Amino acid sequence: MRIVTTTEELREAIRDSSANTVGFVPTMGYLHSGHTTLFDHARKQNDLVVASIFVNPTQFGPNEDFEVYPRDPEGDAAKCRAHGVRLLFMPSVAEVYPDGHATTVTVDHLTTELCGRFRPGHFAGVATVVAKLFCMVGSQRAYFGEKDFQQLAVIRRMARDLNIPTRVIGIPTIREDDGLARSSRNVYLSDEERAVALSLATALRATRAAHRAGERSASALCDLLAAELTRHPTVALQYAELADPESLKLLRGTTLEAGQGARAIIALQLGRTRLIDNAAIDHDDPSFLTTRLGA
Ligand code: PAJ
Repeated sequence: MRIVTTTEELREAIRDSSANTVGFVPTMGYLHSGHTTLFDHARKQNDLVVASIFVNPTQFGPNEDFEVYPRDPEGDAAKCRAHGVRLLFMPSVAEVYPDGHATTVTVDHLTTELCGRFRPGHFAGVATVVAKLFCMVGSQRAYFGEKDFQQLAVIRRMARDLNIPTRVIGIPTIREDDGLARSSRNVYLSDEERAVALSLATALRATRAAHRAGERSASALCDLLAAELTRHPTVALQYAELADPESLKLLRGTTLEAGQGARAIIALQLGRTRLIDNAAIDHDDPSFLTTRLGA
């Protein structure tokens, strides 16, 4: 595996590889199996797997964790190598945003609700850096986790709207054995908070079960989701919504129809840690399909 830090080296290495198909996985590092599953998918579908590790300052708010975001460059490189990444791009902030950088990509509509309400400017930072990375790498495919469901929808829209020929592929969430979605930010959790954090997966399962039992009112399902999440007094719920999986339009006040693909999406603050999760409500969700977790 080769590690490169400049766009020029990156382009040259991709050109020299003479790969017919390139699969790209952008990350912010501190890698876990949620990330490495993206590498594995990319390896199956492409001649060359390119990953990037870049903690992107423009997607963090002023009071967020940019300065303390966990980092482990050596451990990350070993994980990349073990999962078939052949080219790892680790640019500096100055390489991505040189002096005079003045362009921002904003995606309307999909970014006003859900996390967009609580993290102003976040999705503009994500869309900008991902658009830039897509232009730098020029891959046929790029892989993103459903864990960040709104991000995935925003990136799909951005790539379509900007006519970027990279195909955006979504991969189901990887969870711990007890259901907690893997996240680089889970290291912030104390033992007690780790136990409470399980309520995200529990609430999603309860809502899936209520739908299976016949509940079709989106508002009732959202209320159930919220009630499950706020059982514990230390949880500060940000939102608990059902949304259309593509437009992210909120479904409260509607009656769910068969197979419309409703997605439950939640965010909460637990001490200093912000946690998000989501699940398909009205069809199978591979991220819950193990006997241990129940459907
Ligand atoms: P990061 O949080 O490092 O995540 C990189 C990719 O890994 C994202 O596509 C994310 O959805 C995916 N991922 C994280 N945890 C996962 C899990 N448990 N299961 C499946 N996939 C998981 O998301 C970002 O970085 C950044 O916003 C980025 C897209 C790199 C732009 O800066």
